[in-house]
Amino acid sequence: MTTFKRTLLTMLMAGAAPGALMAQIVEPTAPPEPPAFAAQGAPIFVPRDAIQGFRKLDSYNEPDFVKAFVEAGKLPPVEERLPAEPLVMETANMPDGAGVYGDVMRHVIGGRPEGWNYAAGNSQGWGGIDIGTMECLTRVGPLFQVEPEDLAPLPNLAKGWEWSEDGKSLTVHLVEGAKWSDGDPFDAADVMFYWDHIVQDPEVTPLNGANPGTFGEGTTLTRVDDFTVRFDFTTERPEQILYAMGYGTFCPGPEHMLRPAHPEFSDNSYEEFRNAFPPDFLNFPVMGAWVPVEYRPDDIVVMRRNPYYWKVDSDGNQLPYLDEMHYRLSTWADRDIQAVAGTGDFSNLEQPANFVESLRRAAEEDAPAALEFGPRIIGYGLYPNLSGNGWGEPDERAQTIRELNRNEHFRKGIAQALDRQRLGESLVKGPFTTPYAGGLLPDTTYFDRESTVFYPYSLESAKAHFAEAGLEDTDGNGILNLPKDMGGSDVVMTLMANTDYGTDRTVAEGVVAMLQDAGINVSLNLLAGNDFDATRDAGRYDWRIQRTGTELVTGVQNTANLAPTGPNTSQLHMANAEGEMDLLPFEEELAQIVRDFMSSNDAEEKTELMKRYQTVATENLYGVGLTAYPGALVVNKRFANVPQGTPIFMFNWAEDNVMRERLFVPEDKQQNHELHPETLPGAPGEDGPVTAG
Ligand code: GLA
Repeated sequence: MTTFKRTLLTMLMAGAAPGALMAQIVEPTAPPEPPAFAAQGAPIFVPRDAIQGFRKLDSYNEPDFVKAFVEAGKLPPVEERLPAEPLVMETANMPDGAGVYGDVMRHVIGGRPEGWNYAAGNSQGWGGIDIGTMECLTRVGPLFQVEPEDLAPLPNLAKGWEWSEDGKSLTVHLVEGAKWSDGDPFDAADVMFYWDHIVQDPEVTPLNGANPGTFGEGTTLTRVDDFTVRFDFTTERPEQILYAMGYGTFCPGPEHMLRPAHPEFSDNSYEEFRNAFPPDFLNFPVMGAWVPVEYRPDDIVVMRRNPYYWKVDSDGNQLPYLDEMHYRLSTWADRDIQAVAGTGDFSNLEQPANFVESLRRAAEEDAPAALEFGPRIIGYGLYPNLSGNGWGEPDERAQTIRELNRNEHFRKGIAQALDRQRLGESLVKGPFTTPYAGGLLPDTTYFDRESTVFYPYSLESAKAHFAEAGLEDTDGNGILNLPKDMGGSDVVMTLMANTDYGTDRTVAEGVVAMLQDAGINVSLNLLAGNDFDATRDAGRYDWRIQRTGTELVTGVQNTANLAPTGPNTSQLHMANAEGEMDLLPFEEELAQIVRDFMSSNDAEEKTELMKRYQTVATENLYGVGLTAYPGALVVNKRFANVPQGTPIFMFNWAEDNVMRERLFVPEDKQQNHELHPETLPGAPGEDGPVTAG
């Protein structure tokens, strides 16, 4: 029996005697059970210290061609380039053990770099470029394989931390003696610059949107000495901070480059600061394993190994094993095609249009790439702009839509106008997709089906809700009209979608057609990825289609973004130019739940809070969930050390999860793809890599 029929039946049996209008409203249910779909590889769970530690080793090794730089006097010896106690990646945890140097990983990406100033919000083109250049205080990607009892972020640039007795401060010890890829020391100055002049400066938004609220309201950071900083909190022991210190939100940029370009210390405008290091500014100093040494617009970004990388394997080999990284600037769909065909090396298979063909090719004996499906952690949602007081400066038409968006009946009407089963099937047939209610994704730790409110498809019910919102087709043209006091014209709303992904476009087109059937005229606003992000963050949209972020997978990453916990945390609702919020009562409630979650350390309480979050978010349609499905990791078979069961997305994307600095290609499988063999990055801003000679 369909949920629709079941609901009707329940209503009738309960003797509900609804009025004419109410009779048409179909009540919410629990979401449908997803079709069985077994993830292919299970990770091997280990405690965190099985993966890595910090210690001094007796001796260190590096590629021969790098030794030549040392011999030529162009580079200090490796032990002087490494920290006193480097981060040691344990070879015992590497699936294939210690690696050998050489070869290239050929990525293909659909994004385009705006520049290298990720601290000030430049996109580097995604697809692992940013993950490869940015290192953060803690590391979260590899946590997919950490056993639940030991689950907490891995130390990274922060080699350790301790809580004060009252739990109100966290003292953070930075790795000592690590250097940026140009040899400049990494220390508290970099961390404090990021905090004082990036996070705290309302004019600057780092790549993943960190703002003071990300770290808990009222949190401060103080320099203790060159390698120690201290967080002070207004709540007790908010362990959430360790995740906020991870990918996206606490990855400091090089202070020695950024300070002279920052408006507080130069004549630059904020826009000039953001764009001070465009993609053709080569050799931009990074803490990551590879440094950008070549950029050809719409063609390629090439990166060479960072001779100052501060991680080694437990045999003393300086990492990474791979000498070069390519990012072919193409499309995301091409990434799948090339990885499966063997002309690219890596893909997160996340666009269902490519599933069937990729599976078929991967099953062939001579397939160049291995493909492994994981859990259902890719979701798509339809998100309303909920600001009624001016965020994004709406014109009169847009303001009208905002007012409708703030009406629960309008949101319910939208939800019930969408046949999510059919929407999923329009992407791919088979057991992949499942209707998504919104909120936390199914197949995730905090998801609780019983706490999830799902509004089933029913055109009748949608229309009844629209009528409750005052919308009726008064002129008989098939499109609902606004109430007289709102002007009486046809409802016309825009739907913004990201054209970098075919999936987003397909989902958006499906939504437009279904809403049209329900009497809502939707015009598509299709934007390339970087423009989409900028337009969203500026609040200039009515509704948008978007893939879900990590906060809806893990609950513990980017948690502040789960609700308008601060003026700039929610992508659905930010403050207006005056800094004022006009939260709806359910948004206030959501924000409080999330704040409580962020300051709690009681596992049981956290679980309960997330259940409550799920109910309030899905019941009130804080975003209308559309569809959820699994993704597959595709990696060329010549690479060794790919951990079994690596999800394409969880705490971070697979580019972090696989720990690329430990991937290698065995000698007999090495291919000749290096574009700049025997070279290292040159000085910042110089024209490309340099040779030892
Ligand atoms: C994009 C891609 C993802 C992943 C991330 C990494 O978002 O769609 O698959 O590669 O970049 O930053």
